[in-house]
Amino acid sequence: MSRTVPVPNGLPMERDAGPFDPPRRISALRDARPVSPLLFPDGHQGWLVTGHEEVRQLMADTRFSSRLDIGPLHIPYEVPGMPPVTEPSPQIPGMFITMDPPDHGRLRRKLIGAFTVKRMKTLEEHIVALAERQLDAMERLTPPVDLVKEFALPLPLLVICEMLGVPYEDRGGFQKDSATFMEKDVAIDEKMAAYNGLTTYLSDLVTRKRETPDDDLLSDLARQDDLTVDELVGIAFLLLIAGHETTVNQLGLGTFALLENPGQAAELRADPELMPDAVEEIMRYLSVADIFYRYATEDIELGGETIPEGSTVVVSLLAANRDPRRFDDPDALDVRRRARGQLGFGHGVHQCLGQQLARIEMRAGFDGLLRRFPTLRLAVPAAEVRLRTDMNIYGVHELPVTWTQPAP
Ligand code: HEM
Repeated sequence: MSRTVPVPNGLPMERDAGPFDPPRRISALRDARPVSPLLFPDGHQGWLVTGHEEVRQLMADTRFSSRLDIGPLHIPYEVPGMPPVTEPSPQIPGMFITMDPPDHGRLRRKLIGAFTVKRMKTLEEHIVALAERQLDAMERLTPPVDLVKEFALPLPLLVICEMLGVPYEDRGGFQKDSATFMEKDVAIDEKMAAYNGLTTYLSDLVTRKRETPDDDLLSDLARQDDLTVDELVGIAFLLLIAGHETTVNQLGLGTFALLENPGQAAELRADPELMPDAVEEIMRYLSVADIFYRYATEDIELGGETIPEGSTVVVSLLAANRDPRRFDDPDALDVRRRARGQLGFGHGVHQCLGQQLARIEMRAGFDGLLRRFPTLRLAVPAAEVRLRTDMNIYGVHELPVTWTQPAP
């Protein structure tokens, strides 16, 4: 008989086990029942999937549709005026993260060439140079400083802006809209205003690129007649948001985790060759892009349960990445671990398109930071660091850090 786990206020997201760990109730559910019923605030029953193997299977199975996300709102339960949640939502042109095959593949294929491992390798040197330049600027400041503002945010933002051909000077406007858009408990009107602000900005930009293409990814796309302006806007929106909100937080929260695990930071400083494995481990350990939604298009067996057609399914990548059935001592950060099979970039047809880019940014970022700031430490007690439990992508709002400056 199915037992429903009531979740009166949505998913338990409070980080009651520590800033880096999944909420206690989610870990407990994973260990007891990795595919469990979940009651949504409006009373309808969905499912929560938290086991590593179950999450992997689910994400590889396109009968679990990605079309659930209600447009830009990511609200998995009924809201007045929005489509009923038991039906796939209307698709936003270009936003292929919320599309299923074959629509999804048609758009994703247009981008694959720009994100191959080989193409990313050619960017690596430049990204390292950008990281060093940003660290030069940080070094000139008098600590304490906010590491998010001075480093974790500018690096990925510079990289994605350059790649897409979005003027970095315009960031003031679109960053604010992007942040509002990623906030959880924002009134729908406000969220829609932020969405409209961003899409209006991007619509002007891609229209200009269609008229006078330049040497960047959005121009390459704008040259293709079979993409409409609305599709170009959707793609640009997805790449701009996915390209920085995630990496910024992996860098910010990752630095916090290394500062709280000084033995691990010391190992990395002593042996920079560990960096590629360490980045994989930091992805596993933190998985800042944690919660994703799917929609069962038919009755589907998963982990010994039957998920009925029409169910909303919530996935926790973080819980899966901490599954003791898959990783030994999963709640320990261990830079020597080979965390292959970690699911922080997702799995299946929607697996992160920008993962190689993100890996290069994280390698350059953590390497530069640890090397250039050997005395880096928190400037406030760890309990005072503001966590992004209010945002769709987890991380830290600010990370106040300090270091010992050389005597003049
Ligand atoms: C998809 C995580 C960086 C672009 C995804 C998904 C995850 C993820 C979990 C799967 C979503 C799903 O299954 O519904 C991350 C993390 C990053 C990161 C943790 C940083 C550490 C990037 C970067 C880009 C990017 C730098 C660059 C443009 C995308 C796109 C998709 C995606 C376009 C949608 C792919 C599709 O639907 O086919 N990402 N990502 N991501 N990511 Fe990333």
